[in-house]
Amino acid sequence: MTRHFLTLNDLSAIEIRSLLDRAIELKRMLAEGEIYEPMRNRALAMIFEKSSTRTRVSFEVAAIHFGGTAIFISPNDSHLGRGEPVADTARVLASMTSAVVMRTHSHERVVDLARHSSVPVINGLSDLFHPCQLLADLLTYLENRDTIEDIKVAWIGDGNNMCHSWANASKLIGFDLAIATPDGYEPQTDIVTDNSGRIILGNDPLEMIKDADLVVTDTWASMGQEEEKQQRMQAFSGFTVDQNMMNQAKDNALFMHCLPAYRGYEVTADVIEGPQSVVFQQAENRLHAQKALLEFLLKENLP
Ligand code: CP
Ligand code: NVA
Repeated sequence: MTRHFLTLNDLSAIEIRSLLDRAIELKRMLAEGEIYEPMRNRALAMIFEKSSTRTRVSFEVAAIHFGGTAIFISPNDSHLGRGEPVADTARVLASMTSAVVMRTHSHERVVDLARHSSVPVINGLSDLFHPCQLLADLLTYLENRDTIEDIKVAWIGDGNNMCHSWANASKLIGFDLAIATPDGYEPQTDIVTDNSGRIILGNDPLEMIKDADLVVTDTWASMGQEEEKQQRMQAFSGFTVDQNMMNQAKDNALFMHCLPAYRGYEVTADVIEGPQSVVFQQAENRLHAQKALLEFLLKENLP
C-alpha cells in the first residue's frame, strides 16, 4: 500500500524518531559535500495552490541534491485551475513522477489526491495541517536540547493548521501542549481532544506560557483569511509574543515561528531576532527534514 504523509499521524512515533535521526545525518552529509542521489532519474511533482517560499524551495532543492528534479505546478498554468478533477491529475502525475507534494486550501483536496495516487502524496500545507513544518520544528528542538519528550510547549495565537500539527505531535511524541487563543479562535475540538490530558486550552497567554520550554506562534491571518485580517488584528490584541511574555516561560525557553512572520503583530522584532529565537534554523531544517521524508517515502514505495 502506498504510504502518504498528509498529517503527522501517517507516521508512527518510532518512524518520526528515525526520520529525525536520518535528517541529522543527511544534514551532516551535505555539510561535508558527500554526494548522495537516491532520486536520480526520478521526479517530484509539486502542486501549489497557495503561495510559498520555504516549502517550495526546500522540496525543490531536496530533489536537486538527491539527483532528481522537481516540477512546479500552479493552478494558473495547469488544468487544475480549469476544473480538471484532482482524481485525474493524481493518476497522470503518478504515471510519470515518484511523489507529489500538494499545498492547497481544503484538507479534503489533498486526501482526495492521495486516494487516487499510486505514488506518495505529501501535504505541503492545507487549511487543517502543516506536517512538514513539524518535522523541521522537532528536528530544530532536538538540535538545541536533548529531548522533546515531557517538555512543555506553549502555542500562543490562532488555533490554525500549525496549532493542529503541534497537537498531533504532542499526542504522538508525548509532551505537554498549552494552547492560548482568543475566544472564538480555538483549534478544532476533535484534533486537540486528548485522553492523556496533555493538551490544555485557555484564553490567557500569560497563564498558558508559564514554565514553557518552547514558545510557538504563527500569523494571526493565514492564507485564505485575508478578508478577516482587520477583525483578527483586533481579536488577537494581547497575544503578541513580546519579551515580557517570553519572561513568563522558562529562562532557557526557545522561540519558534514557521514564518512568514509579521513583526509587531504575533511577535515583536526583539523576540524574533533575539537569542531565544531559532526561526532561521527551523527554516533551514525544512530542507533536511524533507529529504529524510522523501527518502523514507520513496524507499517504502519502490520501484
Ligand atoms: N513555513 C512555510 O511553510 O513557509 P512557506 O509558506 O514559505 O512555504
Ligand atoms: N498558518 C499559516 C502558515 C504559513 C506557513 C498559513 O496557513 O498561512
